[in-house]
Amino acid sequence: MGARIFLIGFMGTGKTTVGEQLASALDVPLFDSDQEIVKREGRSIPEIFAADGEVHFRKLETAMLTELAAGGPAVITTGGGAVLAAENRDMMKKSGFVVCLTATVEEIVRRVENDPNRPLLQGGDLKGRILALQEARAGLYEFADLALDTTGRSLADIVGEIVMKL
Ligand code: S3P
Repeated sequence: MGARIFLIGFMGTGKTTVGEQLASALDVPLFDSDQEIVKREGRSIPEIFAADGEVHFRKLETAMLTELAAGGPAVITTGGGAVLAAENRDMMKKSGFVVCLTATVEEIVRRVENDPNRPLLQGGDLKGRILALQEARAGLYEFADLALDTTGRSLADIVGEIVMKL
């Protein structure tokens, strides 16, 4: 395989779950960009957003992706907003194979409701928030080498398809 595999996609599309299984199937390390940021900062994503704002979080995210993109073979799962910066999109495309996971909005709602760890989805009408964010990000996930809808598919099936297409 040689290169890195980046999992991108909107919140709740299954990046973390698929990433864990994929890394184990390929026998390479797994790095989750958000978890690496949390470890380094010693505070949670909601704490970073509340204290320093989204713009600061995006800087930490780009710095983390830059490090991971320069590292060895690995599965790298990214936050849903990692594609917002053109710099990040270029970097992922150049340094690895990019897989975009998708899911229907109903499925995303089911997966993220009652999760306090996603600051951009707190308060008010959850489905409305998701649709507005997806609209604002339209087209930004399309640079991926492979796109897969995870709705209603088994984990084994999804991971099997990715491994086959590498
Ligand atoms: C975000 C997605 C989150 C996390 C942060 C912002 C986003 O990651 O990076 O809350 O802007 O879409 P997940 O996609 O893993 O939930």
